[in-house]
Amino acid sequence: MAESDLDLWCQANERRFLAELVEHCRIPSISADPAHAADVRRSAEHLAAGALRAGFRTAEVVETSGHPAVLAELIVDPRLPTALIYGHHDVQPVDPLEEWQSPPFEPQERAGSLYGRGTVDDKGQVWMHLKAVEAWTRVRGGPPMNLRLIVEGEEESGSVHFDELVERLGDRLAADVAVISDTAVFAPDVPSLCTGLRGLCHMELTVAGPSQDLHSGYFGGAVANPATALAGIIGRLHDGSGRVTVPGFYDDVVEPTAEERAAFARLPFDEAVFLHDAGDAPAPAGEAGWSVLERMWVRPTLEVNGIHGGYGGPGSKTIIPARAIAKLSCRLVANQHPDRIGALVAAHLESLASAGVTIRVHREPGGGMPVLTPLDHPTVQAGRRAMRHGFGADPAIIRSGGSIPPVATFQHTLGLPAVMVGVGLPDDQIHAPNERFNLNQYFRGVRTIARLWEEMATALG
Ligand code: BES
Ligand code: MN
Ligand code: MN
Repeated sequence: MAESDLDLWCQANERRFLAELVEHCRIPSISADPAHAADVRRSAEHLAAGALRAGFRTAEVVETSGHPAVLAELIVDPRLPTALIYGHHDVQPVDPLEEWQSPPFEPQERAGSLYGRGTVDDKGQVWMHLKAVEAWTRVRGGPPMNLRLIVEGEEESGSVHFDELVERLGDRLAADVAVISDTAVFAPDVPSLCTGLRGLCHMELTVAGPSQDLHSGYFGGAVANPATALAGIIGRLHDGSGRVTVPGFYDDVVEPTAEERAAFARLPFDEAVFLHDAGDAPAPAGEAGWSVLERMWVRPTLEVNGIHGGYGGPGSKTIIPARAIAKLSCRLVANQHPDRIGALVAAHLESLASAGVTIRVHREPGGGMPVLTPLDHPTVQAGRRAMRHGFGADPAIIRSGGSIPPVATFQHTLGLPAVMVGVGLPDDQIHAPNERFNLNQYFRGVRTIARLWEEMATALG
Protein backbone atom coordinates (compact mmCIF):
# COMPACT_ATOMS: atom_id res chain seq x y z
CA MET A 1 0.00 0.00 0.00
CA ALA A 2 1.54 3.33 -1.06
CA GLU A 3 2.54 5.47 1.91
CA SER A 4 1.11 8.96 2.03
CA ASP A 5 2.56 12.14 3.51
CA LEU A 6 0.35 11.47 6.55
CA ASP A 7 1.81 7.98 7.00
CA LEU A 8 5.37 9.26 6.77
CA TRP A 9 4.72 12.02 9.30
CA CYS A 10 3.10 9.50 11.67
CA GLN A 11 6.02 7.10 11.34
CA ALA A 12 8.51 9.88 12.04
CA ASN A 13 6.66 10.78 15.26
CA GLU A 14 6.00 7.32 16.74
CA ARG A 15 8.36 7.63 19.71
CA ARG A 16 6.65 10.86 20.72
CA PHE A 17 3.20 9.24 20.35
CA LEU A 18 4.40 6.60 22.79
CA ALA A 19 5.80 9.14 25.25
CA GLU A 20 2.52 11.06 25.27
CA LEU A 21 0.49 7.93 25.91
CA VAL A 22 2.80 7.04 28.80
CA GLU A 23 2.14 10.43 30.44
CA HIS A 24 -1.64 9.95 30.31
CA CYS A 25 -1.39 6.37 31.62
CA ARG A 26 0.46 7.64 34.71
CA ILE A 27 -2.82 9.11 35.96
CA PRO A 28 -4.76 6.47 37.97
CA SER A 29 -8.24 7.37 36.67
CA ILE A 30 -10.12 4.47 38.30
CA SER A 31 -13.77 5.50 38.05
CA ALA A 32 -15.15 2.77 40.32
CA ASP A 33 -13.11 3.95 43.32
CA PRO A 34 -14.29 7.22 44.91
CA ALA A 35 -10.79 7.69 46.34
CA HIS A 36 -9.60 8.31 42.75
CA ALA A 37 -12.19 10.96 41.82
CA ALA A 38 -9.53 13.70 41.69
CA ASP A 39 -7.40 11.51 39.42
CA VAL A 40 -10.29 10.98 36.98
CA ARG A 41 -10.66 14.77 36.84
CA ARG A 42 -6.92 15.22 36.31
CA SER A 43 -7.10 12.67 33.50
CA ALA A 44 -9.88 14.69 31.82
CA GLU A 45 -7.87 17.91 32.11
CA HIS A 46 -4.77 16.21 30.75
CA LEU A 47 -6.72 14.87 27.78
CA ALA A 48 -8.41 18.19 27.00
CA ALA A 49 -4.97 19.85 26.88
CA GLY A 50 -3.73 17.06 24.59
CA ALA A 51 -6.71 17.52 22.26
CA LEU A 52 -5.99 21.24 21.90
CA ARG A 53 -2.31 20.56 21.16
CA ALA A 54 -3.35 18.02 18.52
CA GLY A 55 -5.39 20.60 16.62
CA PHE A 56 -8.93 20.51 18.03
CA ARG A 57 -10.14 24.12 18.07
CA THR A 58 -12.02 23.75 21.35
CA ALA A 59 -11.62 21.20 24.11
CA GLU A 60 -13.19 21.33 27.53
CA VAL A 61 -13.84 19.27 30.60
CA VAL A 62 -17.60 18.76 30.89
CA GLU A 63 -19.23 18.01 34.21
CA THR A 64 -21.74 15.23 34.83
CA SER A 65 -23.41 14.10 38.06
CA GLY A 66 -20.50 11.66 38.22
CA HIS A 67 -16.98 11.87 36.77
CA PRO A 68 -16.15 14.50 34.12
CA ALA A 69 -15.93 13.87 30.39
CA VAL A 70 -13.99 15.71 27.67
CA LEU A 71 -15.65 17.35 24.69
CA ALA A 72 -13.57 18.67 21.77
CA GLU A 73 -14.53 20.09 18.39
CA LEU A 74 -12.82 20.64 15.08
CA ILE A 75 -15.38 22.07 12.68
CA VAL A 76 -13.49 22.81 9.49
CA ASP A 77 -16.54 23.63 7.33
CA PRO A 78 -20.17 23.29 8.44
CA ARG A 79 -21.09 22.01 4.95
CA LEU A 80 -18.84 18.95 5.36
CA PRO A 81 -19.93 15.72 7.10
CA THR A 82 -19.15 15.25 10.78
CA ALA A 83 -17.87 12.28 12.76
CA LEU A 84 -18.39 11.88 16.50
CA ILE A 85 -15.44 10.04 18.06
CA TYR A 86 -16.15 8.24 21.35
CA GLY A 87 -13.73 6.82 23.90
CA HIS A 88 -13.24 6.61 27.66
CA HIS A 89 -10.43 7.94 29.83
CA ASP A 90 -11.33 6.05 33.01
CA VAL A 91 -9.80 2.64 33.76
CA GLN A 92 -10.55 -0.52 35.72
CA PRO A 93 -9.27 -1.12 39.26
CA VAL A 94 -5.84 -2.80 39.44
CA ASP A 95 -6.22 -5.57 42.01
CA PRO A 96 -4.56 -8.03 42.50
CA LEU A 97 -1.62 -5.62 42.58
CA GLU A 98 0.97 -8.28 43.43
CA GLU A 99 0.43 -9.97 40.05
CA TRP A 100 1.68 -6.94 38.06
CA GLN A 101 5.22 -7.28 36.70
CA SER A 102 5.59 -3.48 36.67
CA PRO A 103 3.44 -0.98 38.60
CA PRO A 104 0.11 -0.40 36.79
CA PHE A 105 0.52 3.38 36.67
CA GLU A 106 4.22 3.43 35.77
CA PRO A 107 3.87 2.29 32.15
CA GLN A 108 6.79 0.22 30.91
CA GLU A 109 7.76 -0.82 27.39
CA ARG A 110 8.68 -4.51 27.15
CA ALA A 111 9.03 -6.65 24.02
CA GLY A 112 7.11 -4.28 21.76
CA SER A 113 4.21 -3.61 24.11
CA LEU A 114 3.42 -0.89 26.61
CA TYR A 115 2.36 -2.39 29.95
CA GLY A 116 0.06 -0.50 32.30
CA ARG A 117 -3.58 -0.04 33.28
CA GLY A 118 -5.52 1.76 30.56
CA THR A 119 -2.80 1.43 27.89
CA VAL A 120 -5.23 -0.24 25.47
CA ASP A 121 -8.59 0.08 27.32
CA ASP A 122 -8.99 2.79 26.38
CA LYS A 123 -6.41 5.58 26.68
CA GLY A 124 -4.14 4.26 23.95
CA GLN A 125 -7.01 3.96 21.49
CA VAL A 126 -8.13 7.52 22.34
CA TRP A 127 -4.59 8.76 21.68
CA MET A 128 -4.70 7.15 18.22
CA HIS A 129 -7.46 9.62 17.44
CA LEU A 130 -5.62 12.62 18.88
CA LYS A 131 -2.48 11.76 16.95
CA ALA A 132 -4.38 11.21 13.69
CA VAL A 133 -5.88 14.69 14.08
CA GLU A 134 -2.43 16.08 14.77
CA ALA A 135 -1.13 14.44 11.60
CA TRP A 136 -3.84 16.12 9.50
CA THR A 137 -3.28 19.45 11.24
CA ARG A 138 0.51 19.48 10.77
CA VAL A 139 0.68 17.88 7.32
CA ARG A 140 -2.41 19.18 5.54
CA GLY A 141 -3.63 22.09 7.65
CA GLY A 142 -6.71 20.25 8.97
CA PRO A 143 -8.88 17.15 8.46
CA PRO A 144 -11.13 16.71 5.39
CA MET A 145 -14.30 16.57 7.50
CA ASN A 146 -15.59 17.85 10.83
CA LEU A 147 -14.69 16.01 14.00
CA ARG A 148 -16.21 16.01 17.45
CA LEU A 149 -14.69 14.04 20.29
CA ILE A 150 -16.47 12.85 23.45
CA VAL A 151 -14.37 10.92 25.96
CA GLU A 152 -16.23 9.86 29.06
CA GLY A 153 -14.92 9.16 32.55
CA GLU A 154 -17.37 6.48 33.68
CA GLU A 155 -17.39 3.72 31.06
CA GLU A 156 -15.71 1.20 33.36
CA SER A 157 -18.34 1.80 36.01
CA GLY A 158 -21.36 1.51 33.74
CA SER A 159 -21.67 4.91 31.96
CA VAL A 160 -24.53 5.68 34.34
CA HIS A 161 -24.60 9.42 33.55
CA PHE A 162 -23.87 9.17 29.84
CA ASP A 163 -27.43 9.45 28.52
CA GLU A 164 -27.99 12.50 30.70
CA LEU A 165 -24.79 14.01 29.27
CA VAL A 166 -25.88 13.32 25.69
CA GLU A 167 -29.21 14.98 26.33
CA ARG A 168 -27.56 18.05 27.85
CA LEU A 169 -24.96 18.44 25.10
CA GLY A 170 -27.64 18.24 22.39
CA ASP A 171 -26.39 19.76 19.13
CA ARG A 172 -22.81 19.80 20.28
CA LEU A 173 -22.80 16.06 19.50
CA ALA A 174 -24.56 16.43 16.14
CA ALA A 175 -22.88 14.11 13.62
CA ASP A 176 -23.38 11.77 10.69
CA VAL A 177 -21.49 8.81 12.11
CA ALA A 178 -20.01 7.61 15.43
CA VAL A 179 -16.48 6.21 15.42
CA ILE A 180 -15.29 4.09 18.33
CA SER A 181 -11.89 2.56 19.05
CA ASP A 182 -12.44 0.42 22.13
CA THR A 183 -12.51 -3.17 20.83
CA ALA A 184 -10.00 -5.82 19.77
CA VAL A 185 -9.11 -7.48 16.47
CA PHE A 186 -9.68 -11.18 15.82
CA ALA A 187 -6.02 -12.21 16.04
CA PRO A 188 -2.60 -10.50 15.84
CA ASP A 189 -2.31 -10.92 12.06
CA VAL A 190 -6.02 -10.43 11.32
CA PRO A 191 -7.08 -6.76 11.21
CA SER A 192 -10.79 -6.63 11.94
CA LEU A 193 -13.76 -4.37 11.79
CA CYS A 194 -16.24 -4.95 14.59
CA THR A 195 -19.92 -4.67 13.66
CA GLY A 196 -21.67 -5.80 16.82
CA LEU A 197 -21.52 -5.53 20.61
CA ARG A 198 -23.64 -7.24 23.21
CA GLY A 199 -25.84 -5.33 25.61
CA LEU A 200 -25.84 -5.76 29.36
CA CYS A 201 -28.24 -5.99 32.30
CA HIS A 202 -27.07 -6.54 35.91
CA MET A 203 -28.90 -7.60 39.02
CA GLU A 204 -28.34 -8.68 42.59
CA LEU A 205 -30.25 -11.60 44.04
CA THR A 206 -30.65 -11.89 47.80
CA VAL A 207 -31.99 -15.09 49.36
CA ALA A 208 -32.96 -14.40 52.96
CA GLY A 209 -33.88 -16.80 55.74
CA PRO A 210 -33.61 -16.12 59.50
CA SER A 211 -32.97 -12.56 60.68
CA GLN A 212 -29.49 -13.55 61.88
CA ASP A 213 -27.03 -16.43 61.54
CA LEU A 214 -28.16 -19.50 63.50
CA HIS A 215 -26.31 -22.32 65.30
CA SER A 216 -26.36 -25.10 62.70
CA GLY A 217 -26.61 -27.81 65.37
CA TYR A 218 -29.35 -26.31 67.49
CA PHE A 219 -31.48 -25.30 64.42
CA GLY A 220 -29.95 -27.25 61.53
CA GLY A 221 -32.32 -29.52 59.65
CA ALA A 222 -35.39 -27.62 60.83
CA VAL A 223 -34.80 -24.22 59.16
CA ALA A 224 -34.13 -23.56 55.45
CA ASN A 225 -30.53 -22.72 54.60
CA PRO A 226 -30.40 -19.62 52.29
CA ALA A 227 -27.02 -20.63 50.83
CA THR A 228 -28.41 -24.02 49.82
CA ALA A 229 -31.53 -22.35 48.43
CA LEU A 230 -29.37 -19.92 46.39
CA ALA A 231 -27.28 -22.78 44.99
CA GLY A 232 -30.50 -24.55 43.99
CA ILE A 233 -31.79 -21.48 42.17
CA ILE A 234 -28.51 -20.92 40.35
CA GLY A 235 -28.38 -24.59 39.40
CA ARG A 236 -31.72 -24.27 37.65
CA LEU A 237 -30.91 -21.19 35.53
CA HIS A 238 -29.53 -23.31 32.64
CA ASP A 239 -30.82 -26.56 31.18
CA GLY A 240 -28.75 -29.56 30.11
CA SER A 241 -28.04 -28.05 26.69
CA GLY A 242 -26.72 -24.79 28.15
CA ARG A 243 -29.83 -22.73 27.42
CA VAL A 244 -31.11 -20.13 29.85
CA THR A 245 -34.36 -21.39 31.42
CA VAL A 246 -35.95 -17.96 32.01
CA PRO A 247 -39.33 -18.06 30.17
CA GLY A 248 -39.33 -15.59 27.28
CA PHE A 249 -35.56 -15.01 27.49
CA TYR A 250 -34.97 -15.76 23.79
CA ASP A 251 -38.22 -14.25 22.44
CA ASP A 252 -36.66 -11.08 21.00
CA VAL A 253 -33.38 -12.58 19.82
CA VAL A 254 -32.61 -11.92 16.16
CA GLU A 255 -30.73 -14.95 14.88
CA PRO A 256 -27.85 -14.49 12.43
CA THR A 257 -28.56 -15.29 8.80
CA ALA A 258 -27.13 -18.39 7.15
CA GLU A 259 -24.68 -16.10 5.29
CA GLU A 260 -23.51 -14.53 8.56
CA ARG A 261 -23.02 -17.94 10.15
CA ALA A 262 -21.07 -19.11 7.12
CA ALA A 263 -18.87 -16.00 7.32
CA PHE A 264 -18.19 -16.61 11.04
CA ALA A 265 -17.30 -20.23 10.23
CA ARG A 266 -14.74 -19.04 7.65
CA LEU A 267 -12.79 -16.99 10.22
CA PRO A 268 -9.47 -18.56 11.23
CA PHE A 269 -10.67 -19.65 14.67
CA ASP A 270 -8.11 -21.68 16.60
CA GLU A 271 -9.57 -23.43 19.62
CA ALA A 272 -6.20 -23.92 21.32
CA VAL A 273 -5.40 -20.19 21.06
CA PHE A 274 -8.89 -19.34 22.28
CA LEU A 275 -8.51 -21.59 25.32
CA HIS A 276 -5.09 -20.12 26.05
CA ASP A 277 -6.44 -16.54 25.84
CA ALA A 278 -9.32 -17.68 28.06
CA GLY A 279 -6.92 -18.25 30.94
CA ASP A 280 -6.07 -21.81 29.87
CA ALA A 281 -9.66 -22.91 30.39
CA PRO A 282 -9.80 -26.73 30.07
CA ALA A 283 -12.51 -26.84 27.39
CA PRO A 284 -15.05 -24.59 25.67
CA ALA A 285 -18.58 -24.70 27.05
CA GLY A 286 -21.97 -23.19 26.31
CA GLU A 287 -25.17 -23.49 24.39
CA ALA A 288 -25.51 -26.55 22.16
CA GLY A 289 -25.94 -25.89 18.45
CA TRP A 290 -23.76 -22.78 18.30
CA SER A 291 -20.03 -22.38 17.64
CA VAL A 292 -17.69 -20.82 20.19
CA LEU A 293 -17.67 -17.52 18.27
CA GLU A 294 -21.47 -17.54 17.95
CA ARG A 295 -21.87 -18.19 21.69
CA MET A 296 -19.88 -15.01 22.36
CA TRP A 297 -21.14 -12.82 19.53
CA VAL A 298 -24.77 -13.63 18.73
CA ARG A 299 -26.18 -15.52 21.71
CA PRO A 300 -27.34 -14.00 25.00
CA THR A 301 -26.08 -15.27 28.36
CA LEU A 302 -26.97 -15.25 32.02
CA GLU A 303 -23.81 -15.31 34.15
CA VAL A 304 -23.14 -15.55 37.87
CA ASN A 305 -20.50 -12.92 38.61
CA GLY A 306 -20.19 -13.74 42.30
CA ILE A 307 -21.76 -15.68 45.16
CA HIS A 308 -21.49 -14.60 48.76
CA GLY A 309 -22.96 -15.97 51.94
CA GLY A 310 -22.05 -17.41 55.30
CA TYR A 311 -18.58 -18.12 56.55
CA GLY A 312 -15.47 -18.15 54.33
CA GLY A 313 -12.68 -17.53 56.83
CA PRO A 314 -10.07 -19.90 58.25
CA GLY A 315 -11.18 -23.17 59.84
CA SER A 316 -14.85 -23.86 60.27
CA LYS A 317 -17.87 -22.12 61.76
CA THR A 318 -21.07 -24.05 62.36
CA ILE A 319 -23.83 -21.71 61.21
CA ILE A 320 -26.85 -21.45 59.00
CA PRO A 321 -26.22 -18.10 57.30
CA ALA A 322 -28.98 -15.51 57.51
CA ARG A 323 -28.70 -14.74 53.80
CA ALA A 324 -26.84 -15.49 50.60
CA ILE A 325 -26.31 -13.14 47.68
CA ALA A 326 -25.48 -13.59 44.00
CA LYS A 327 -24.47 -10.95 41.49
CA LEU A 328 -25.93 -11.83 38.10
CA SER A 329 -25.62 -10.29 34.66
CA CYS A 330 -26.98 -10.97 31.21
CA ARG A 331 -25.19 -10.22 27.94
CA LEU A 332 -27.85 -9.30 25.43
CA VAL A 333 -28.09 -9.43 21.66
CA ALA A 334 -30.32 -7.63 19.17
CA ASN A 335 -33.29 -7.06 19.80
CA GLN A 336 -33.30 -7.85 23.52
CA HIS A 337 -34.00 -4.91 25.83
CA PRO A 338 -32.31 -4.73 29.24
CA ASP A 339 -35.54 -3.62 30.99
CA ARG A 340 -37.59 -6.50 29.58
CA ILE A 341 -34.89 -9.08 30.27
CA GLY A 342 -34.36 -7.68 33.78
CA ALA A 343 -38.08 -8.11 34.49
CA LEU A 344 -38.23 -11.64 33.04
CA VAL A 345 -35.20 -12.79 35.02
CA ALA A 346 -36.54 -11.25 38.24
CA ALA A 347 -39.90 -12.98 37.81
CA HIS A 348 -38.21 -16.31 37.15
CA LEU A 349 -35.94 -15.97 40.20
CA GLU A 350 -38.95 -15.22 42.37
CA SER A 351 -40.74 -18.29 41.03
CA LEU A 352 -37.79 -20.45 42.11
CA ALA A 353 -37.99 -19.48 45.80
CA SER A 354 -38.19 -22.61 47.93
CA ALA A 355 -40.12 -22.92 51.19
CA GLY A 356 -38.56 -21.14 54.14
CA VAL A 357 -36.68 -18.39 52.27
CA THR A 358 -37.63 -15.09 50.69
CA ILE A 359 -36.14 -13.62 47.55
CA ARG A 360 -35.35 -10.06 46.61
CA VAL A 361 -34.06 -9.04 43.19
CA HIS A 362 -32.48 -5.64 42.80
CA ARG A 363 -31.70 -4.30 39.34
CA GLU A 364 -28.28 -2.58 39.33
CA PRO A 365 -27.83 0.59 37.28
CA GLY A 366 -25.57 0.73 34.26
CA GLY A 367 -26.86 -1.70 31.64
CA GLY A 368 -27.21 -1.00 27.98
CA MET A 369 -28.59 -2.14 24.67
CA PRO A 370 -26.78 -4.30 22.12
CA VAL A 371 -25.28 -2.71 19.00
CA LEU A 372 -25.41 -3.93 15.41
CA THR A 373 -23.89 -1.89 12.58
CA PRO A 374 -25.15 -2.44 9.03
CA LEU A 375 -22.21 -3.79 7.06
CA ASP A 376 -23.36 -2.16 3.84
CA HIS A 377 -23.31 1.38 5.28
CA PRO A 378 -20.84 3.56 3.33
CA THR A 379 -19.06 4.63 6.54
CA VAL A 380 -18.43 0.99 7.45
CA GLN A 381 -16.97 0.39 4.01
CA ALA A 382 -14.79 3.47 4.57
CA GLY A 383 -13.59 1.90 7.83
CA ARG A 384 -12.78 -1.26 5.93
CA ARG A 385 -10.64 0.58 3.38
CA ALA A 386 -8.87 2.56 6.13
CA MET A 387 -7.97 -0.66 7.95
CA ARG A 388 -6.68 -2.20 4.76
CA HIS A 389 -4.46 0.85 4.33
CA GLY A 390 -3.20 0.85 7.92
CA PHE A 391 -2.67 -2.90 8.31
CA GLY A 392 -1.99 -4.03 4.74
CA ALA A 393 -4.83 -6.57 4.60
CA ASP A 394 -8.58 -6.53 4.11
CA PRO A 395 -10.11 -6.64 7.61
CA ALA A 396 -12.16 -9.57 8.85
CA ILE A 397 -15.74 -8.65 9.73
CA ILE A 398 -16.25 -9.65 13.34
CA ARG A 399 -18.45 -8.96 16.32
CA SER A 400 -17.53 -8.72 19.96
CA GLY A 401 -19.11 -10.19 23.05
CA GLY A 402 -18.22 -7.13 25.17
CA SER A 403 -20.44 -4.14 25.83
CA ILE A 404 -20.04 -0.39 25.43
CA PRO A 405 -23.39 1.09 26.48
CA PRO A 406 -22.73 4.59 25.01
CA VAL A 407 -22.35 3.09 21.54
CA ALA A 408 -25.90 1.82 21.87
CA THR A 409 -26.98 5.36 22.77
CA PHE A 410 -25.40 6.64 19.55
CA GLN A 411 -27.17 3.96 17.54
CA HIS A 412 -30.58 3.93 19.19
CA THR A 413 -30.98 7.51 20.48
CA LEU A 414 -28.96 9.60 18.03
CA GLY A 415 -29.58 7.25 15.08
CA LEU A 416 -25.90 7.13 14.07
CA PRO A 417 -24.16 4.16 12.48
CA ALA A 418 -21.32 3.00 14.76
CA VAL A 419 -18.02 2.31 13.02
CA MET A 420 -15.82 0.33 15.41
CA VAL A 421 -12.17 0.58 14.48
CA GLY A 422 -10.57 -1.07 17.49
CA VAL A 423 -7.04 -2.43 17.38
CA GLY A 424 -6.51 -4.23 20.70
CA LEU A 425 -5.24 -7.82 20.65
CA PRO A 426 -7.13 -10.74 22.23
CA ASP A 427 -4.33 -11.31 24.76
CA ASP A 428 -3.94 -7.69 25.92
CA GLN A 429 -5.16 -8.73 29.39
CA ILE A 430 -7.68 -5.91 29.66
CA HIS A 431 -9.26 -5.57 33.13
CA ALA A 432 -6.53 -7.95 34.43
CA PRO A 433 -2.98 -7.62 35.77
CA ASN A 434 -0.36 -6.72 33.12
CA GLU A 435 -2.71 -5.01 30.68
CA ARG A 436 -0.71 -4.02 27.62
CA PHE A 437 -0.97 -2.33 24.24
CA ASN A 438 1.04 -3.76 21.36
CA LEU A 439 2.90 -0.76 19.91
CA ASN A 440 2.68 -1.99 16.34
CA GLN A 441 -1.11 -1.98 16.79
CA TYR A 442 -0.95 1.54 18.28
CA PHE A 443 1.14 3.01 15.48
CA ARG A 444 -0.76 1.27 12.69
CA GLY A 445 -3.93 2.35 14.46
CA VAL A 446 -2.91 6.01 14.18
CA ARG A 447 -2.29 5.62 10.43
CA THR A 448 -5.60 3.77 10.04
CA ILE A 449 -7.54 6.56 11.73
CA ALA A 450 -5.71 9.22 9.70
CA ARG A 451 -6.73 7.38 6.54
CA LEU A 452 -10.27 6.93 7.86
CA TRP A 453 -11.11 10.65 7.68
CA GLU A 454 -10.17 10.74 4.02
CA GLU A 455 -12.16 7.59 3.20
CA MET A 456 -15.13 8.76 5.21
CA ALA A 457 -15.20 12.27 3.76
CA THR A 458 -15.33 10.68 0.31
CA ALA A 459 -17.96 8.11 1.34
CA LEU A 460 -20.25 10.76 2.89
CA GLY A 461 -19.43 13.57 0.48
N1 BES B 1 -13.63 -1.86 25.86
C1 BES B 1 -14.44 -2.68 26.70
C2 BES B 1 -15.46 -3.50 25.93
C3 BES B 1 -14.86 -4.49 24.98
C4 BES B 1 -13.82 -5.31 25.36
C5 BES B 1 -15.34 -4.58 23.71
C6 BES B 1 -13.26 -6.20 24.46
C7 BES B 1 -14.79 -5.47 22.82
C8 BES B 1 -13.74 -6.28 23.20
C9 BES B 1 -15.15 -1.80 27.71
O1 BES B 1 -14.26 -0.89 28.32
C10 BES B 1 -15.69 -2.66 28.82
O2 BES B 1 -14.93 -3.19 29.56
N2 BES B 1 -17.03 -2.75 28.91
C11 BES B 1 -17.68 -3.38 30.00
C12 BES B 1 -18.95 -2.63 30.23
C13 BES B 1 -19.38 -2.54 31.66
C14 BES B 1 -18.31 -2.04 32.58
C15 BES B 1 -20.64 -1.71 31.75
C16 BES B 1 -17.99 -4.83 29.72
O3 BES B 1 -18.13 -5.23 28.56
O4 BES B 1 -18.06 -5.59 30.68
MN1 MN C 1 -13.07 0.05 26.94
MN1 MN D 1 -13.07 -1.98 29.83
